[in-house]
Amino acid sequence: MRIAALLRLAIVFVAVSVFAVSVLALDAAHAQNAVALTGQVTSAEEGAMEGVLVNAKKGTITITVVSDAQGRYSFPASKLTPGQYALSIRAVGYDLDNSKTIEIGPRNVTHNLTLRKTEDLAAQMSNGEWMHSVPGSDQQKGLLLGCVGCHTLERFMRSTHDFKTLMEVTLPRMQGYVNQSIPQNPQLRRGARLMEERGDQRVEVYRKVAEYLADINLSKGPTWSFELKRLPRPTGRATRVIYTEYDLPRETISPHDVVLDKDGIAWYSSFGEQFFGRLDPKTGAVKEYAMPLHKPDFPKGSLGLRADRAGNWWLGNMYQAAIVKFDPKTEQFQAWPMPPQYNIDASQVNMVRPESSHVDGKVWSQNNGFAAVHRLDLASGQIETFEPYKNSKIPHNIYDVIPDSQNNVYYTDFRNFHIGRIDAKTGEVKIYTALTPRSAPRRGYMDAQDRLWFGMYRADRVGLFDTKTETFKEWLMPTKWASPYDVMLDRNEELWTGSMITDHVTRLNTKTDEMVEYLLPRTTNIRRVYVDNTTNPVTFWVGSNHGASIIKLETLD
Ligand code: HEC
Repeated sequence: MRIAALLRLAIVFVAVSVFAVSVLALDAAHAQNAVALTGQVTSAEEGAMEGVLVNAKKGTITITVVSDAQGRYSFPASKLTPGQYALSIRAVGYDLDNSKTIEIGPRNVTHNLTLRKTEDLAAQMSNGEWMHSVPGSDQQKGLLLGCVGCHTLERFMRSTHDFKTLMEVTLPRMQGYVNQSIPQNPQLRRGARLMEERGDQRVEVYRKVAEYLADINLSKGPTWSFELKRLPRPTGRATRVIYTEYDLPRETISPHDVVLDKDGIAWYSSFGEQFFGRLDPKTGAVKEYAMPLHKPDFPKGSLGLRADRAGNWWLGNMYQAAIVKFDPKTEQFQAWPMPPQYNIDASQVNMVRPESSHVDGKVWSQNNGFAAVHRLDLASGQIETFEPYKNSKIPHNIYDVIPDSQNNVYYTDFRNFHIGRIDAKTGEVKIYTALTPRSAPRRGYMDAQDRLWFGMYRADRVGLFDTKTETFKEWLMPTKWASPYDVMLDRNEELWTGSMITDHVTRLNTKTDEMVEYLLPRTTNIRRVYVDNTTNPVTFWVGSNHGASIIKLETLD
């Protein structure tokens, strides 16, 4: 009897615990899919609005989601911890009309957003939208690509400078800044720009630019003589995305290259400051390391950032004219300045590529000052220099150097449409011509099969050069003036690129040729792109070079 009663009790106990466990499991599933904040976006003009980016910001971190075809947006509970959030939107042509802060507690909040037509469309236009709006031939408009590296086109479009002022004051002043300048942190060029055309030729170039510029800014009247055109908002798959944006501590940090280490820490090169930084995405905490100066009177900042197999970071310290290594274990820098004959005023070391240095103990680098490829021998500390265009009559700019698995190097010629190759053992140079002329190939990525992928800045294309078959393939971007800078292939053979002009991140399925264009939450100038292949699905990362932040993009498909 007693035993039977105990048994009954035990059965009841087991049943209760099974019930408890299943309730817990349900709860966890619920929490994962739970929504913290949701609502519909509408406007009087359009009704329910698709493709509106809705930003919720707390502290230094902003989460952004995009409204679907019914105008509905929703923030998962896993992304919004309780607290007060500032709300804002990106939908060119519109402002957010109703309440702009919201309290997130333990319960789901529904909050519909009403948009109204903006009174200042020009302030919301991306550089891409200006490019689509301004009159002129493609060649004339292409001149404006020379203005977007340091600030928005809006800054110029609102100016009232006439031809004479542009010719005599504005353009020479802009030429005087080095390319890592932003209005918050201008830095002056030292010495002449070696690659620039000289004398009369240069004046002629200035004249053409100034004539065109004076036609399209506000020098001739209080408003623009052309219609301000908007690019379409994201639609369909491009709305299935969540962004997390981490603000960096100073607006003068222009993160140029952002790369993750094996622990998920995001490391960044600072384009205009002599710091190397790390961001912990779990907390948003940033730590900076001051980089030693090699030429104190020269512009500061670094560009390319890559890791070697051992996990050391390598940076191109630009006008400091040095190859720099950072050991994350000891937190120490080591530097190799350019040899004296190459350490001229114009010397500019942008890229350092150690990825295959384990093969032969050598690290590739390049020089923007005079179209050269450098190679550092780690054992001796000696730097060798290759100048494939030394006697060329036309200007060249060796932009990126990309090692293959055997540490032969390929390079992009930004002034032309060439891909070069230097044989690691013999030093022999071979030059290949991409399909599209004047494409300005920019940064490149070598995949595990020794296929070279690269951005074709002035051709709105991304390119593939198969180093084994020595053949090219190119893809045209969906939006004109996409001006892709860099590319990276993910583990699914999807190629990711970013636009320096339109704020689009483009995902190309290289098997089906399908492309999706994701719009970033704020306007910027996209440089290096990075894909974290360790997550499921893969995660895309990029620095906001003009926005002092680091952005993570997670797709929902
Ligand atoms: C290498 C960086 C750089 C490039 C490239 C550049 N600018 Fe600037 N620009 C700056 C900086 C820095 C400032 C802010 C400091 C200043 O006003 O000099 C600025 C400010 C301006 C201003 C506002 C100040 C003024 O003089 O009215 C205008 C207009 C302007 N730029 C036009 C242009 C045009 C047009 C181009 C392209 C032909 C261009 N910029 C290219 C760096 C650059």
